[in-house]
Amino acid sequence: MTLHRKYGSDERIIIHCETVTKVAKILADAMLKEGKEVDVKAVLAGAMLHDIGRSRVHSVRHGLEGANIVEGEGVEMKVVEIVRKHVGAGISREEARALQLPDLDYIPATLEEMIVCFSDKMVDADRVRPFEAEVHRFTVKGHDVSRLVALKRRLQQELGEDPEKVIFDKVKETQ
Ligand SMILES: [Fe+2]
Repeated sequence: MTLHRKYGSDERIIIHCETVTKVAKILADAMLKEGKEVDVKAVLAGAMLHDIGRSRVHSVRHGLEGANIVEGEGVEMKVVEIVRKHVGAGISREEARALQLPDLDYIPATLEEMIVCFSDKMVDADRVRPFEAEVHRFTVKGHDVSRLVALKRRLQQELGEDPEKVIFDKVKETQ
């Protein structure tokens, strides 16, 4: 929160980050319960900071900008990478070149990176929404739906159950 204030994030971006953090915590806790090794602190920090780059730019570059901000603040690299790789369902090296982003792979790969990326896709502003709504948005925008579906499938393999169901069950419980 200190970093959001320092970089002048909009209030609605902060609220979005808080909601994504709640969802990411649900998934991280469920992973722990399954005996998976997950750095919950990195997940929470990455979720809270994932959109800090929007204080500078709202384009596809906001992941990279955010990563630069948090790296400059001495935040651990695990968290920097979560922020850098949260945009869409990830950006491949080829796509990054076409978008004139630094020549890197931006596809979430670690459990922590996948949890935050997926949690973000499950939250519209401050509202948890069905996965299908994001699939629809990807389709309309012409994004790669298969990569989004693959992200969900990877998490399902790790969890042994549907991450969307895990999120909605928990959200209902706390309402
Ligand atoms: Fe974002």
